Amino acid sequence: MCGIVGYIGDRQALPILIDGLKKLEYRGYDSAGVAVHNGMNININKAKGRLTVLEQRINRDELTGTLGIGHTRWATHGEPSDINSHPHTNQSGDIAVVHNGIIENYMKLKSWLQREGYAFASETDTEVVAHMINYYYNGDLVEAIRNTLDRIDGSYALGVIAKQHPDCMVVARKDSPLVIGLGDGENYIASDVPAILKYTRKVYFLDDKEIALLYRDKVEIINQYGEKVEKEVFEVTWDVEAAEKGGYQHFMLKEIHEEPKALRDTLIPRIADDRIELGDISVTKEQLEKAGKIVIVACGTAYHAGVVGKYVIEKLARIPVDVEIASEFRYKDPLINENNIIIIISQSGETADTLAALRMCKKAGARIIAITNVVGSTVSREADHVLYTWAGPEIAVASTKAYTTQLLCLYMMALDFADKMGRIPEEEYRQMLEEMKRLPELTQKILDSKQMMQKCADETFNANSIFYIGRGLDYAAAMEGSLKLKEISYIHSEAYAAGELKHGTIALIEEGTPVVALATQRNLFEKTLNNIKEVKARGAFVIAVAVEGDTDIEREVDRVIYIPNTYNMFTPVLMAIPLQLYAYYVAVAKGCDVDKPRNLAKSVTVE
Ligand code: AGP
Repeated sequence: MCGIVGYIGDRQALPILIDGLKKLEYRGYDSAGVAVHNGMNININKAKGRLTVLEQRINRDELTGTLGIGHTRWATHGEPSDINSHPHTNQSGDIAVVHNGIIENYMKLKSWLQREGYAFASETDTEVVAHMINYYYNGDLVEAIRNTLDRIDGSYALGVIAKQHPDCMVVARKDSPLVIGLGDGENYIASDVPAILKYTRKVYFLDDKEIALLYRDKVEIINQYGEKVEKEVFEVTWDVEAAEKGGYQHFMLKEIHEEPKALRDTLIPRIADDRIELGDISVTKEQLEKAGKIVIVACGTAYHAGVVGKYVIEKLARIPVDVEIASEFRYKDPLINENNIIIIISQSGETADTLAALRMCKKAGARIIAITNVVGSTVSREADHVLYTWAGPEIAVASTKAYTTQLLCLYMMALDFADKMGRIPEEEYRQMLEEMKRLPELTQKILDSKQMMQKCADETFNANSIFYIGRGLDYAAAMEGSLKLKEISYIHSEAYAAGELKHGTIALIEEGTPVVALATQRNLFEKTLNNIKEVKARGAFVIAVAVEGDTDIEREVDRVIYIPNTYNMFTPVLMAIPLQLYAYYVAVAKGCDVDKPRNLAKSVTVE
């Protein structure tokens, strides 16, 4: 997720832009840039790397002016580079644009613009916006922007300045935050409150599909139909730290709340004409047939996503899948050949063991597909194909939105592979895709009822041990739920295949031991219910996660959290939300440092 700042007033814009961008550094970025209007022309400077690189490169005499926009980029379309950094412009450099979000239909728009004779400088989706505004511009900047937005699918927070309009900045938003700061004879924009907190606490939060025109002494807001919107001024009372977290107590909680958007951003751009289009990974039917097996390699949470991936790829595409912990795999002399397909999963794209496994498989000649969140990471550069999770930067050490978007990537691959192999009937494919499209909305629904997780956490945070049980995909989800709990709350926790309990683990259950029982797999529901009865009979305090409608479970357990009804295969995405929230609230109740748990690093770049 990128950062946006903008200024219009009587002061020099550049220092305010740089200062604002510095306040957004905590979000993570790979490049930065600014555009300043000097009353005659727009001058731009942008650079890959930290803001200090940009600052060293800036010619301050050239970048004078009291109207400007700035941006820190977290790469999505196109690697981190000077050219791909924002602001982007039309060919003549008369219109400059900064953008946060994803233009889902940019490929189509780009082809159309190219047919109209427009030449593109960058690989970004954002550049289409600058050219489209130019295409529609006939003296009325707002009209040109409205026409452009009418044709854009996806999410955006946009800041636009134009040579012909030295006294105005136009901004717009849909599904990406944008805040307008109100000063005295000056106004500001920012993607996040911390960027402008030093200058003003009076803000407008722009709503979806609203457009704002910022002048030095006033701000006008219109809706998508051009009608004037009256907005209440919001007085920000947060301190800088709270503002960085968007008002949430911790980054982890903020990132859990970002999951519906992250899922949407990861899925929707990959659907065209009711089919999954994984242009990013061009694996053919022949290659899949020849593969013999797929091997998924990863660490930690990414490994747990891989366990779900194994279930779904095998079930849908009927291709054998091994799932391996990278640190084990790299030293076991694995059987890999040049036909095998390797799926490397890594949020950071820098995990040492995962990277070593990738290199080993590459040496063996295998085809490497990476699922990663960081464009330009080592994994993304060394893999043959990359499928990005467009989750935006994940700051909390505990992985949340990266995990659910990794699951989504694996579902998309499973469905795509099954289709290519002719192993899924057309009707089933369509139904499954429709259901996949509902996942962002369903996760939002779970977030809206989070009080139950807080209650369960309050009842169990003093426990010495908490067990997680489940069968099939519930077991895979249990492994991740248990990891989340132990890494941030320091409570001992284990995940067990529910059917394995009798083979030893049940001896650990005593009066009051919390057991989180996942019972979302319809075909295994009765079996899991029996296992729940077994632990209950030994005195366990059972918190169950079940699907809406499966109310029989209420008789057997102490607490139930219901997730919305969906395909068995998709429940791990939905279950992730209550399990993450449960771990979060337990850690908060214990007073732990949720975002930076002891002994852990966000990216494990050493063995
Ligand atoms: C998850 O909450 C952990 N912090 C950790 O297990 C993490 O998933 C693991 O280190 C792998 O990281 P990666 O996805 O960046 O490779």
